[in-house]
Order: sequence, then C-alpha cells, then structure tokens
Amino acid sequence: MVYFTVVKILGIESSCDETAAAVVEDGYRLLSNVVHSQIDIHAVYGGVVPEVAARSHIEVINPVINQALANANCTWDDIDAIAVTYAPGLVGSLLVGTLAARTLAITHNKPLYPIHHVEAHVYANFITAQSDTLELTLPQHQPQFPMLALIVSGGHSQLVLFRDHGDYELLGQTQDDAVGEAFDKVAKILGLPYPGGPSIATKALEGNPKAYQLPKARLQGKYDFSFSGLKTAVLRAVQREVGVDVTFPSSGLAERLDDAQKANFAASFQHTAIETLVDKAEAAYHDYSPDSVVIAGGVAASQELRRQLSDRLPLPIEYAPMSLCTDNAAMIATLGYFYAQKHQPSDPSEVSVTPSLSMTKTAWAQTRS
Ligand code: KG4
Ligand code: ZN
Repeated sequence: MVYFTVVKILGIESSCDETAAAVVEDGYRLLSNVVHSQIDIHAVYGGVVPEVAARSHIEVINPVINQALANANCTWDDIDAIAVTYAPGLVGSLLVGTLAARTLAITHNKPLYPIHHVEAHVYANFITAQSDTLELTLPQHQPQFPMLALIVSGGHSQLVLFRDHGDYELLGQTQDDAVGEAFDKVAKILGLPYPGGPSIATKALEGNPKAYQLPKARLQGKYDFSFSGLKTAVLRAVQREVGVDVTFPSSGLAERLDDAQKANFAASFQHTAIETLVDKAEAAYHDYSPDSVVIAGGVAASQELRRQLSDRLPLPIEYAPMSLCTDNAAMIATLGYFYAQKHQPSDPSEVSVTPSLSMTKTAWAQTRS
C-alpha cells in the first residue's frame, strides 16, 4: 500500500563519527551530500571516542544540515520529508541526529521517517543520478531484484538476499568481529593510522599478499564469517617475526617491524580478509542466482574487494562511489524515499534511538507488498 509519495527528502546521519546531511530526489537523484568527518579528532586516540563524537555532532549538525539544503538549492518549502538514522550506532551520536530531525520535523511540519543505518548502506547503490554541481561516478542503473547484498562495515559483516524492497532474508553474518573492525585492529598492531581500512589498503600496495600464510575460519553456517581468529593470527605472526613470545603487548610490536614487513603483513591480511568475503558471496551467488550483486558499507570502498569480486562473479557489478560507501546521509534519504512509499511517517515526539537493533528487526524488514 502506498501511504505517501514524497519527492525531495532530507537525510540526516550521525550514528558514529560522521555528521552528514543530504538531499535526494525520487530516491535516485543526488542533489547534495555534505559529510563532516571527525576522523582527525579520533585518529589521535586510534579509534572513535563516543563522548567526543557526540560533542562534535552537536557543534556541527545545524551547519551541516543548512549546507545540504543550500547545496541542493532548496529552502524548507522544497523539502517533502525528513529521514534520519535511529539505529544502530553510538547512543550519544544517534541522539544528536534524531533530536535535530524531530525538532525540524515539528517546526517545519514535515513527515519524519526513522531509518536503520545498515539497511541504508545497501540503498547507496540506488543512487544513479546527480545534480550538476556534484562530481561523482555513479552507477547507470538501479540494482534489480533478487539482489544479493554484501554488507561490510566497521560494525557489520552480513550477506543478505533482497527479494524486493523491504523483503529480505539474512543469509549469514559474522560470528565475532566485523571485517572493518578487523582492518582497524590489524592496522593498530602494524602502527598504521586510523581508520585501518584505507591505511592498510595503501600500505598493501607495496607488499606481497603471499608473504605470510594466514588462516581462513571454517564455520558451521555456510554464509557466516569470522574475523577475530584472523586478527589473532596476524598478531601471532608479527610476534614470531620480531622474535617475541605471545605475552608481548601488541602496542609494542609496530616499532620492531620495518616498512617492508609492515607492507607484507598489510597485503597478506587484506588478501585473506577479502578472499573470505568473496568466497561466501560467490557461494551465495551460485545458490540463489540473484539478478544483481551489491556491496555496501565502509569496506565496500576497498579496491581489493572490487577486484576480487569482479574476477570471481560472472555478472557485471556497478559499484557505488567510495564517498557513498562510507557513512553519509544520501543513503539515509534514499532508503527514506522507498520506505515512505510503504510506511506511514512516525510521530516526531516518539522517535527514539535503538543503539543495537539488528536489521532483521526493523519495520522495513517486515514490509511485504
Ligand atoms: O560504514 P562505515 O563508514 O562505518 C560504519 O558504519 O562502521 O565503515 C567504516 C569501516 C572502518 O572499519 C574502515 O576501516 C573501513 O570501513 N574501510 C575500509 C576501507 N575504507 C574504509 N576497509 C577496507 N578497505 C578500505 N578501502
Ligand atoms: Zn556505516
């Protein structure tokens, strides 16, 4: 049932360390995309500090929203609805975005749609056209259903089969660390800067992916992942390489490695972590024969992932640009558009945050047309 058809949606995202706002028209045309990253602030600590993140969101959320409206050449009169991330994420960070969205929905009398961050990552792949002012290389077509989605971020590693909008099945997921988390932890062991994904990718360019043999976890679930063992295997291999025992603290290892060793560890880890993801995606592809495959989440920015997937899957994959793979609000506005066609808006005074809500428990997951 179509409850409400909207055209221009303002998306707001603040679930972790990016404060973002964007305007998307008809669920595919990107009119603006503003992301204020806190990476420099958290890099000093080697990871996101929740209290610091929330305070930074408070400082920039209004300017970021105003900039997104200005870049889209919109006033509030042009905006038909607001979509905001309410789950999952850091509680303080989520609160800032949802409170801003609730207040704006009330003061400007706009319908408000609460959006799940991980579901929204998948919808970054539905953005296929942009305004003249944005320079991005976007996919030419929206993905077709059934669609296999490999969701790989700092907090999630999941394989999901979408039969239609809001009609999906979780095929498998990580049993411990998310793959992005493993990149971040291994980067720390190697003394590479946060966030670990891009810094490992850069270092790996100088290294040999076969230099160290690292294990791939064997799991009961055919499409499940595990990355904690791989991270520990890197730790043990580094300890062996520098000649210390397993009690030696991981924080003291990087200074004993030379540049070539760091590059070889980065390349070997990246190769094995990505191959694990691609093995499972390939198995699911052959079992379910989807019409499209998409990748989503921060690790989808990995060139190595794109290279291995394109090598191993027989169908062409249209990848979203890097800037729409990492956290942004365009994906929130895009899912907001599809969500608004099947769900009533929420009462702004009742939208609350749910920091650890799984994507299988959302209203969108219960949608059946
Ligand atoms: O989706 P995202 O921006 O935030 C979360 O919702 O978690 O993902 C961030 C994660 C970080 O762990 C980061 O290290 C990883 O994405 N990442 C990458 C790359 N770029 C970002 N991992 C591998 N290769 C990359 N090029
Ligand atoms: Zn994310």
